[in-house]
Amino acid sequence: MNAQLKPASAHIRPLRESDVVRAMEIERKAYPFPWSEAIFRDCFKSGYSGLALEQSGVLLGYGWISCAAGEAHIMNVAVEPDLQGLGHGKHLLKRLIDVARWYRAERVLLEVRRSNVVAISLYHHMGFNEIGQRPNYYPAQGKREDALIYAMELHSPWLAALALQETGLP
Ligand SMILES: CC(C)(COP(=O)(O)OP(=O)(O)OC[C@H]1O[C@@H](n2cnc3c(N)ncnc32)[C@H](O)[C@@H]1OP(=O)(O)O)[C@@H](O)C(=O)NCCC(=O)NCCS
Repeated sequence: MNAQLKPASAHIRPLRESDVVRAMEIERKAYPFPWSEAIFRDCFKSGYSGLALEQSGVLLGYGWISCAAGEAHIMNVAVEPDLQGLGHGKHLLKRLIDVARWYRAERVLLEVRRSNVVAISLYHHMGFNEIGQRPNYYPAQGKREDALIYAMELHSPWLAALALQETGLP
């Protein structure tokens, strides 16, 4: 994998079933307790929205979001571990939020392991707020781990500020 692959030239497109093999490589490297391939494939059948982050024909990351009844739920977001920390996660998350807006969701929810400091930092950075916890939600080595529940209201001033930053407007 080329470590020079930068977010500026990576693009987002819908995730396809033909991405599953490569996506599962990322999934297994990125998570200590990855989704199974069956769960990944079921997301296509369930009508969830999947986004692929691709550069030069190589899948670098992906995200899944489900949108219903005014609420969106980010179910997964992962970046190839060799290419983390380059802004790809932020890029994917912004586009997942765009999908939620397209479905006219009023808020976006997600769960994250208490120990996942990188993802938590990303969610804070994007304007998500912790709204609750699910004790012992995730499997973990030898015991279970709590999930923190994060939410973002889609009229958040944080997002407006981020959008302005991107357009370069004062
Ligand atoms: C979480 C994940 C998607 C973030 O993607 P990424 O490409 O590494 O993140 P980015 O480079 O876009 O960084 C975005 C923000 O995350 C935070 N971040 C990134 N790397 C970090 C690190 N090593 N330590 C602390 N915070 C970090 C920062 O807030 C950063 O913003 P900044 O660069 O402006 O400071 C990625 O690390 C990943 O795939 N992790 C494994 C799967 C996972 O845990 N997914 C989330 C499940 S809830």
